[in-house]
Amino acid sequence: MTPPKPITLADLEPLARAAMEPAAWDYYAGGAGDELTIAGNRAAWDRLRLRPRVLVDVSSVDMATSAFGVALPHPLVVAPTASHDLAHPDGELATARGSAAAGALMTLSTISSRPMEEVAAAAPGSPRWFQLYPPSERDAAADLVRRAADAGYGAIAVTVDLPLPGNRERDLRSGFAVRMGVHLPADQAVDPRTGLVVLPTMTWDDLAWLRSVSPIPVVAKGILRADDAQRAIETGCDGIWVSNHGGRQLDGSIATADALPEIVEAVDGRALILVDGGVRRGIDALRALSLGANLVAVGRPVLWGLASGGADGVERALGVLRSELELAMALAGCPTLTEVTRDLVV
Ligand code: GLV
Repeated sequence: MTPPKPITLADLEPLARAAMEPAAWDYYAGGAGDELTIAGNRAAWDRLRLRPRVLVDVSSVDMATSAFGVALPHPLVVAPTASHDLAHPDGELATARGSAAAGALMTLSTISSRPMEEVAAAAPGSPRWFQLYPPSERDAAADLVRRAADAGYGAIAVTVDLPLPGNRERDLRSGFAVRMGVHLPADQAVDPRTGLVVLPTMTWDDLAWLRSVSPIPVVAKGILRADDAQRAIETGCDGIWVSNHGGRQLDGSIATADALPEIVEAVDGRALILVDGGVRRGIDALRALSLGANLVAVGRPVLWGLASGGADGVERALGVLRSELELAMALAGCPTLTEVTRDLVV
């Protein structure tokens, strides 16, 4: 008998776990400290209740949107995650193919196992962004930005919440250290325990400088406060990515669903807003969009798809989420994203 087809993202998780080395699995799955923020992200989405509108013609639901002028068939985005070769031998090439097949904008991590140009070539027509951990040498940082723009990446998502890696205790127990990937210079300072880049001196001045050298939009990824969102906009950022790094940095950090409303209010339409963290269902995406996010990103579930089925698995994971969001919009009386308004959630 063939095994049952995964119906939900949660169905993919045990399949991925079975396909991966235990220490690599723990690196993906784990968070910082007691993993309070991982749990908090989920709980915060679950607390939000939907207020569906009835008697609306939802015979066709159109999820189309855009990001920096690029049309997207739906608002679901692949969040950057490190070293996809831990999940599948084709690594980020498979992720790019699967994301393209699912119509999803993919964000490639600086800490990837394949160069950004190869990833771009794997899914040439598809929208993509590059996540940046800026190397300490400005020339090297500017070079990565230039390469990304040349390779057709539509934006740079600068991670601003990792001055140092969080205390990933699963990795300390297993001894796992991630490889630095193919983009950072060989002399880049890394944390010896985790293998992750360290950026303890990075400040708003560095973000402003990155903005000044980037020919493409810059998104500040890892914002959890309205005042920081305001400052990022004053620094010239084009997008604000509300994120607590999947609960992998400061444990006890506010859930993204709880941080989002104050940031949406502070941004007041001046920048594109993304959110990630614990999105596992189409209704979570609907909740996020109702609170004012323009795009909703998923990280670990994409890795579950990748580990369990390569490019097809990535397509399947994103397809599940997309179908769930489409149905949720229909049941909430929203034929397009315009109807997904703030009053849809309490
Ligand atoms: C890398 O960004 C990580 O969170 O491990």
